[in-house]
Amino acid sequence: MIRGGFITFEGIDGCGKSTQADLLAKRLRSEGGVVVASREPGGTPIAEKIRALLLNSAHREMVKECEVLLYLAARAQHLKEKIIPAINRGATVICDRFQDATFAYQGFGREVTLEQLRRMNSFATGGIDPDLTFLLDVPVEKAFERLTAMKKPKDRLEDGERDFFERVRKGYRRVAADAPGRIVLLDGTLPPEVLEEKVYMITAGKLKEISCY
Ligand code: TMP
Repeated sequence: MIRGGFITFEGIDGCGKSTQADLLAKRLRSEGGVVVASREPGGTPIAEKIRALLLNSAHREMVKECEVLLYLAARAQHLKEKIIPAINRGATVICDRFQDATFAYQGFGREVTLEQLRRMNSFATGGIDPDLTFLLDVPVEKAFERLTAMKKPKDRLEDGERDFFERVRKGYRRVAADAPGRIVLLDGTLPPEVLEEKVYMITAGKLKEISCY
């Protein structure tokens, strides 16, 4: 059976991943590829409702256990309702964030035990990993400058402290070092068009590999 690829983009808020995810989706579509673009938390009606709960900046009292379970609940729904059926139809799924965000934000940022997160995440995903993940790494200072320039109101997580984002960045780098075959770390301070080309070339190679299974 021909299956599609599952590609995710990760990085701290303001790293430029959403722009790169959009550019990749456009380019693959322009070549006739069938692409399903999605995001986490979110991507289906139920998961988008969970997203609204998670990101609401009025929910300051949300405890980290509640936060973890909501991200994972959204992921389970998104994966079974949208991602797996799309891959099985042969579409390429491009998702703005997935499980590595949980390890970086809740594991390193909120300091929830990684072992516990791994177990809970595999319950939510059934052990499905992306085929390829791009981590756009940018210094926290640079990401903050970009977020300020975007002038959009901050959500509950973006409103966090600088130390939190330093831990998340470090966490992402550790997660990438532990999965070198899947996660490609890219310098997110490079010009967008340079990044776009790198992302496209690496993706094209991976999709070729998958279609030869
Ligand atoms: P976004 O703004 O990139 O769509 O992401 C929403 C926020 O949710 C962002 O601050 C990162 C955070 N997040 C987590 O903390 N854990 C997760 O598992 C996911 C998917 C996102």
